[in-house]
Amino acid sequence: MFEEAQYFAPVAARDDGSVVVELAASHPGFADPVYRTRRNAIAGLAVNYRRGTPIPVAEYTEQEHGIWALVTRELAVKHDKYATAEYLDGAARLGLPQDRIPQLEEVSRLLEPLTGFRYLPAAGLVPLRDFYGVLADGYFHSTQYIRHHSVPFYTPEPDVIHEVIGHANALANDRYAALYRLAGEAARRVESEEALEIVSKVFWFTLEFGVMSEGAELKAYGAGILSSYGEIEEFRGMDIRPLDLQAMSTTKYDITKYQDVLFRADSLQHLEDVVGGFWATCDDESIAKMVRVSR
Ligand SMILES: [Fe+2]
Repeated sequence: MFEEAQYFAPVAARDDGSVVVELAASHPGFADPVYRTRRNAIAGLAVNYRRGTPIPVAEYTEQEHGIWALVTRELAVKHDKYATAEYLDGAARLGLPQDRIPQLEEVSRLLEPLTGFRYLPAAGLVPLRDFYGVLADGYFHSTQYIRHHSVPFYTPEPDVIHEVIGHANALANDRYAALYRLAGEAARRVESEEALEIVSKVFWFTLEFGVMSEGAELKAYGAGILSSYGEIEEFRGMDIRPLDLQAMSTTKYDITKYQDVLFRADSLQHLEDVVGGFWATCDDESIAKMVRVSR
């Protein structure tokens, strides 16, 4: 959802109507023809999707439902220890199935009565302006495929576990959902690509990889941490910096490795004031000024 690099596998739609997902040679499913055929079919659902129609059903195998059940069970234990109270509140309200992968249509049915958010299928990378822009309307783009069964606790790309466990549980909380919407409004408001990049970078360092003080403890609310079995155990040992918009806009990150620089909000109110306030008011001019000052 963020950068071309290797984060999302490229998806090619061919003239004959077929859709091909180009997995890198390092991808755990690269040499598995059955998995690759399924990835192509699932990507095809999103490529051919038209908004306003029901999201096509992705047929998952028993093995894939088993991956979801395993990862859900293991992450839930870690969430109790490491997730913010509001994320846990969202998870409790949403009540995702624990034993099988929910269809995105089902995620929407659970989520919409809570905060108005609905899911949209994505084959792979969605252009930044569209990905962020539709957040303002309460839509969240999500992949439908699941990681390869050989490595259930690892995925090089954002899969349905990341999109749903990481993001939907946060989107089920009113205060986090409001922040997602503000990010969308900011993406709609800014015109230059540079300003859009800053809006999305702030999203990356907060709603994807943000951490927060809760009493004397450090908790995570970012979807990238909360959906990653490895990162959730590591984030406390990372380079934790104070919440700072200028620093976020100039900090480099490598999407292919664990995120080693994290920004800590003092509280959810602090996050709402600083980051929510930024998204609520930023425009090309204010962002250009902020970037200039930090150079
Ligand atoms: Fe994400």
